[in-house]
Amino acid sequence: MATITELGNDPQVLTVTWDDGSTSRYPWIWLRDHAHDEASFHPVTNQRNVHTAAVPRDITAKEVSLVDGDVRISWTSEDEDSVLPVAFLSEFKTPKVVRTRPPVEPVLWDAETIFPTPSTPYDDIMNTDEGLRDWLTKVASHGFALAVGVPPTAEATEELIRRVAYVRQSIFGGFWEFTADLAKQDTAYTNVELLSHTDGTYSNDAPVQLLHCLYFEGEGGESTMVDSFNVAAKIKERNPEYYEILSTVQVPGQYIGDGSHLMSSRPVLRHDHNGELVQVSFNNGDRAPFLLPEDEMVRFYDAIRLFDEISNDPAMQWRHTLAPGEAMLFDNWHVMHGRMAYSGRRKLCGAYLNHEDFESQLRMLGTK
Ligand SMILES: [Fe+2]
Repeated sequence: MATITELGNDPQVLTVTWDDGSTSRYPWIWLRDHAHDEASFHPVTNQRNVHTAAVPRDITAKEVSLVDGDVRISWTSEDEDSVLPVAFLSEFKTPKVVRTRPPVEPVLWDAETIFPTPSTPYDDIMNTDEGLRDWLTKVASHGFALAVGVPPTAEATEELIRRVAYVRQSIFGGFWEFTADLAKQDTAYTNVELLSHTDGTYSNDAPVQLLHCLYFEGEGGESTMVDSFNVAAKIKERNPEYYEILSTVQVPGQYIGDGSHLMSSRPVLRHDHNGELVQVSFNNGDRAPFLLPEDEMVRFYDAIRLFDEISNDPAMQWRHTLAPGEAMLFDNWHVMHGRMAYSGRRKLCGAYLNHEDFESQLRMLGTK
């Protein structure tokens, strides 16, 4: 850990010289806002107690000192001293925007490089934090991973899901079991081919999803997965203009049925404030109507045509007939899924999880 060799009390800022020779500058008001002493920051709730807007704009320090690994500041305008751990200050040696995504880098893959399929034994997931961490890290890096050796029952599958996070209540219920009977007004409940798509384009928090085939007797029905981030990379390579269109045009999604009308909107390729691609959304069936000026509208369809061509290219896809015992967890921000047409009888179960809860679990496992 970095240590401090010198503290400087400037009128505007605290200057810190680190043991590697670098220096940092912290505005006094920022230090007051981020003080870690109990009066400023609640040690149990981890919430700020400082009433930030009431801190004088021109707050300055009377004295600064290093005490037991903390920087202690006495203020000209306040009776109580403030305390900030050196370790905390060292996280902000230079100004930075905090990254809120878990620190798992995406691994780009295609039909060749995805095998052997990322997977983790069910017993490891259920019995050890290492097993759960392994499974979720694979989902975070590749967009999906199998749990293998899952007892082919709805009860065991639900227990597996609850090991990750709580089940989302949605229009489809909580934990579901289904066959091709159109029990809900959605093509997922039929046996026709489903092209590459993401679920939840109509949701502000498109879900992480688990599917487990409990029973299948028939022909076809291969599951497909495609790495959305790799699709994006290919589009950038082949046509930067289309990449720009897909990154900027707001595409509304909607779900009308079962007593609901849900809507949300974002570009197909959504980037964060750092310009990093964070989410790919595409569901042709659930796209709500919108009209752009004529040239832009036609260019949007051109971009979608290329996007669709790459997304449904078998050279980009993982294809596999899911067998009972193989539960597939996948991230609708990171992969698109589909299914070939099938005949016969098939019974599936699964659930949606909130994406934010999946992210939380990754952070918790990483910091344990
Ligand atoms: Fe789907």
